[in-house]
Amino acid sequence: MQPLLEIKNLSVSFETDDGMLPAVKDVSLSINKGEVLGLVGESGCGKSVTAMSVLRLLPSPPGKIMGGTVRYGDQDLLQIPIDALRSIRGNKISMIFQEPMTALSPLHRIGTQLVEALRMHRTQSKQAAWKEAETWLTKVGIPDAAERMHAYPHQLSGGMRQRVMIAMGLMLDPDLIIADEPTTALDVTIQAQIFDLIREMRKNETAMLLITHDMGVIWEMCTHVAVMYASEIVETGPLEQLFKDPIHPYTKALLAVIPGSATPGERLAAIPGQVASPLDYPKGCHFQDRCRYAFERCQRNHPDLYRHDDRCVRCFLAEENP
Ligand SMILES: Nc1ncnc2c1ncn2[C@@H]1O[C@H](COP(=O)(O)OP(=O)(O)OP(=O)(O)O)[C@@H](O)[C@H]1O
Ligand SMILES: [Mg+2]
Repeated sequence: MQPLLEIKNLSVSFETDDGMLPAVKDVSLSINKGEVLGLVGESGCGKSVTAMSVLRLLPSPPGKIMGGTVRYGDQDLLQIPIDALRSIRGNKISMIFQEPMTALSPLHRIGTQLVEALRMHRTQSKQAAWKEAETWLTKVGIPDAAERMHAYPHQLSGGMRQRVMIAMGLMLDPDLIIADEPTTALDVTIQAQIFDLIREMRKNETAMLLITHDMGVIWEMCTHVAVMYASEIVETGPLEQLFKDPIHPYTKALLAVIPGSATPGERLAAIPGQVASPLDYPKGCHFQDRCRYAFERCQRNHPDLYRHDDRCVRCFLAEENP
């Protein structure tokens, strides 16, 4: 079966005063219909840059896609004309951001923005679109939806704004939702409500790429996991296998910092040491300085992603001890 979305060998760099900063290196990920792929890793490892690249939303310059393909249907999203891409954004592939104000304009009423998004992709009268948008606000749990349609984003609480963005992300019935830390800015009770909402609304049909720091959220929401470290994918696999039997030492460390098992709301606690700067990645394995299993080969060579059953792992230890 052809995956719904297939990212292959994606590399993205930023131009800096000190040279090209490799934010994403050779990332390959695929998502099938109905799957929820969790993308997890410490701050700065390249999760958002990967997600933004799918719909070519990175500012360029300084961002530059150095190589790779993003196949959706029979199209490469990195190559198609911008008009063709616009007809996919929001409609076929939508994005829910951490901070709703990146997607909502402060200058226009919520209703106007929802109506505009609906009418951009569908032939629908203004009145019909207004009614539909209002129904969506009710669906995502916004009280007095008719009245809220006239509000500006700043007149709503953070949780309400996030609900508006979820409505916007779901109302066109996309094939894929990319959610980049959709609840990190919200308090814990509201986080749980928002995830319940996303779960209920996508009805297990819509595929999702869910970016989070939170292994508890991954456990609750995802079917598959991809672990990123220092611009690279280091392990991918089906959820249960990866949680029960993590192979990469970094995945092990991420899971070990959750006391007992996955607890919702738990953020990644500190793993000793620091992620190397992208301008200064070591020659061998990017994780070698923090890895208690590192051996000589890890300093000398850079490990490739190695296939291990239906998992992929970037680690010499796994390759040498299959
Ligand atoms: N607009 C930008 N200009 C320059 N560098 C950037 C830009 N956006 C991201 N980067 C760099 O790219 C690298 C990857 O960043 P990215 O935002 O993808 O990390 P992340 O995994 O999403 O982290 P977080 O968990 O903190 O959101 C980082 O080194 C970051 O500093
Ligand atoms: Mg991010």
